[in-house]
Amino acid sequence: MSSQPETMPALAQRADASYLDFVEGFREYILGKGADFEDRLNEELLAEERRRGKKWQELEEIRAHVHGLPLGRLRDRLARTQQEMKWHTLKRSFEAQRQSLTSQLAHWDTRGPGRLELDRQFVYPPYVNVHFHLQPAGYYKDELSGYLYHYGTKVFFRGDNDHDELHAKLVARVPAPADGRVERILDLACSIGQSSTAFKRRFPSAEVTGVDYSTPMLRVAHRRAAMLGDDVTFAQRLVEDTGYANGHFDITFAFIVFHELPLRIIHETVCEAARVTRKGGIFAIYDFIGTRDKSPFQRYHRWFDARHNGEPYSQDFCDCNLENILAKNGFKVAAAPVGQRSGGAGYMSNWFATRE
Ligand SMILES: C[S@@+](CC[C@H](N)C(=O)[O-])C[C@H]1O[C@@H](n2cnc3c(N)ncnc32)[C@H](O)[C@@H]1O
Repeated sequence: MSSQPETMPALAQRADASYLDFVEGFREYILGKGADFEDRLNEELLAEERRRGKKWQELEEIRAHVHGLPLGRLRDRLARTQQEMKWHTLKRSFEAQRQSLTSQLAHWDTRGPGRLELDRQFVYPPYVNVHFHLQPAGYYKDELSGYLYHYGTKVFFRGDNDHDELHAKLVARVPAPADGRVERILDLACSIGQSSTAFKRRFPSAEVTGVDYSTPMLRVAHRRAAMLGDDVTFAQRLVEDTGYANGHFDITFAFIVFHELPLRIIHETVCEAARVTRKGGIFAIYDFIGTRDKSPFQRYHRWFDARHNGEPYSQDFCDCNLENILAKNGFKVAAAPVGQRSGGAGYMSNWFATRE
């Protein structure tokens, strides 16, 4: 049990919380060892490969085969349905408390520690108009989007995000620059600021800044950090154009944002990270594993996620060679990334790169 203040808003009724506990378990069952869909479908695909005497090449062939299996169709329906169950309940439960939740945000907007820097002139670029992971109204069109995201990711990460556990673990693994200097840290696409506060706790004397485009995310990030007593700045900026000075940061960090960017913006964001990270500084990225490291079922799942779970850009990200993009922009990647299951986060890779 954590001793930190509870920053995740309570649901309107206990019945909603218990329903969402069920959805979390249901999700664990579908995606984990309970139903074991992944291993069972992957075995089916490998057996078919052996029968055909040649490796799967085209995604279209894999897709046709999975769709021909009752197990494949069942798994897809359940994967989609558990997302719909989660968002439907969360939306209804927060809607019932809209007034009190919005006044809580207003209460914290101007209180510290930490600062909220919203840009009243901010224009959302067209590529962000997506309902990522089917979140109702997406990341920025509802004042309550940050709260929806917070509870939504609690269910999504299945026990790894009740009290920021996953973010604390990932931040702890980021290497410090070789010279040990850590005065300024940038958390790119910080959403509700869980990595930003984890960095502040790991490096208490450093200045930590989280940037994101979404006003509702940043307001929840600021409220959350202020409630925890963490002095962090949250600013409304684009990851591909942060506006900070050259070489300003010792560590630049990005957790699961690259797969949500169009390929052109991926290139621009790496270029921007290279600009704002000082020589010898670290750029640490956690994100989905690349296509070349994937089993046939994981390749299928990437297609499913893109098509049926609001991840339109993720296929291009998984197909691109992020190490090459990093190298072209003046980063040296410590080791080839390895895809591994990371608790509730599923398969992820990390790229720890040093600015040369
Ligand atoms: C999946 S979340 C990232 C997770 C986040 N790093 C965390 O720790 O929870 C995606 C976030 O990236 C933000 N985002 C996506 N594209 C962005 C961009 N081009 N500039 C700034 N923020 C962006 C979204 O608003 C959203 O809050």
